[in-house]
Amino acid sequence: MQTVTTLPNLRQAVDELRGSALKRDTIALVPTMGALHEGHLTLVREAAKRADHVAVSIFVNPRQFGPNEDLDAYPRQMAEDSAKLEAEGVALLWAPDMEAMYPAGYATNISVSGVSTGLCGADRPGHFDGVATVVCKLFNQVRPDMALFGEKDWQQLAVIRRMSRDLDLTLPHVDAIYGVPIVRDPDGLAMSSRNAYLSPEHRAAAATLPRAMDEAIARIRDGQEAAPTLAMLEDQLLGAGFASVDYAELRDADSIALLDGETSTDLDNARLFVAARIGGTRLIDNKPV
Ligand code: PAF
Repeated sequence: MQTVTTLPNLRQAVDELRGSALKRDTIALVPTMGALHEGHLTLVREAAKRADHVAVSIFVNPRQFGPNEDLDAYPRQMAEDSAKLEAEGVALLWAPDMEAMYPAGYATNISVSGVSTGLCGADRPGHFDGVATVVCKLFNQVRPDMALFGEKDWQQLAVIRRMSRDLDLTLPHVDAIYGVPIVRDPDGLAMSSRNAYLSPEHRAAAATLPRAMDEAIARIRDGQEAAPTLAMLEDQLLGAGFASVDYAELRDADSIALLDGETSTDLDNARLFVAARIGGTRLIDNKPV
């Protein structure tokens, strides 16, 4: 695996991977912020099935963290991450430093409306601008044929798809922005780099989140009203030791529009989205209804 930290070296490494113009090998990009877990490695394995070479980026992007969020505490473990990627047969690790990503004088922001509104967009102002901006830059830097993202950050995926269409960032491969299903621990908790913040007690209680979501979905499918069912889900989380629930909402999976669940067609393309805080850690999850 080649690790590059500057744009000229990245361009050269990508050209080398592409090989001859006649054959032109394909490259799949897996953008990450490091602290890699099985969820990320699943993205890498899916990428390897789809392209000749896999490139992974690791960059803890300050523009997607709010002023009171965990930018400083965010786990950074480059040596460990690098060993994991090497073992997966990744060809290229793009690990830009701050100067390579946002050089002095950097002044451009990408803001995607619509799908960025509500859910994490409401709780984390500016977060999706930061994500859209860095992902647009990563696409322009690596120029991959396709890119893979985890469905745990479902709204992020919707934002990236919208941005790519709107800015004509069409990657060469058909349906080039792949969403990969959430990877879960055996007790159902969605894998996340932030799970590392949880104490053993909070980690055990956190498994209530996917369980309570499954129960709420079963009730809604059974015809129970959405609003009291979601209120019950919130109570269940608070009762299990969660400090607060940022949201528990039904939304259209594509447009991210809020659904009240009052008509049966509301549920055709609905997903349940939850964000809740436990012991200072904010967990998010989503499941189809
Ligand atoms: O999902 C993430 O890890 C980040 O939001 C991403 C897509 C790498 C952009 O920084």
